[in-house]
Amino acid sequence: MAERLLTFDIFRYNPATPEIPPRMQEFQLEETVGMSLFIALNRIREEQDPSLMFDFVCRAAVCGSCGMLINGRPGLACKTLTQDLGEKITLMPLPVFKLVGDLSVDTGVWFRYLNVRTEAWIHTDQVFDPKGLEERMDNPTAHRIYEAERCIECGCCIGACATANMREDFIGAAFLNRIARFLIDPRDERPAAHIFEVVGTDEGVFGCIGLMACDDLCPMEIPLQGQLAYVRRKMALVALRGK
Ligand code: FES
Repeated sequence: MAERLLTFDIFRYNPATPEIPPRMQEFQLEETVGMSLFIALNRIREEQDPSLMFDFVCRAAVCGSCGMLINGRPGLACKTLTQDLGEKITLMPLPVFKLVGDLSVDTGVWFRYLNVRTEAWIHTDQVFDPKGLEERMDNPTAHRIYEAERCIECGCCIGACATANMREDFIGAAFLNRIARFLIDPRDERPAAHIFEVVGTDEGVFGCIGLMACDDLCPMEIPLQGQLAYVRRKMALVALRGK
C-alpha cells in the first residue's frame, strides 16, 4: 500500500470552557497498514494533542462507545479502516446526544431514559427461581429475539435519523427495535395494547418518515426498517382484534 499522509479535520469543543467557541482542527498523520480510526485518534492524542476527547472501550464493535460522524455519516470508529476513506477525513460527534466534548457524546442518559419510558424489560407475574431450569423457547423465536438483541446501543441509527434530529421526544429505531424484541418474546406477558399506548404515537412508530438511514447505517446490520414494520403490523392486528 502506498504510504499516504492523512489529514483529519476534527470537531473541537469543550462545554466546560464555553469561552472557546466550537471549531474544526486539522491534524496530519502518516497512514499505517490496517489503521483504524481508533488507532489514528489514539496516535493523534498521544503524539499531537492530549486534550482530544473521544470514546472507546472494546475496539471490536461490541461496546458501542465509538459512534461518530465519519465524513458526515454515522459509524463506529473502531470498525472503520482509514484505507476505506480518502486522504482527508472529517470527524464530528454524533448529533442528538449530549456533547461531552470534541467527539465524545453521552449516549447512556438517552438510552437509560428510553429504557424506563418504554419499560424495556420482561413483564411477568412468574416468580424468578434462581435454581430453576432455563425456560425453553423454539429456535425461530429465539433467533428473532437474538437478531434484535444484537443492538450495541452505539446511537448511529439515532444520529442518522431525520426525525430524531428534529424532535427530541422521538424514540428512534434503536427503541422501536427494542419494542419489537419484547413483542416477540413469549415470556413478556404485557398486553400488546399497553406497549402501543407508549409507542403508537408520533413519538413512536408514526414519527418515522421512512428515509431508512437507520437501516442503511446500522453498524450491526440489524434490519431496523423490518423491525419497525413488524411493530406497525402487530399494532394494526391488535387494533383489529381489540386486544
Ligand atoms: S470501541 Fe467498542 S464499539 Fe467501538
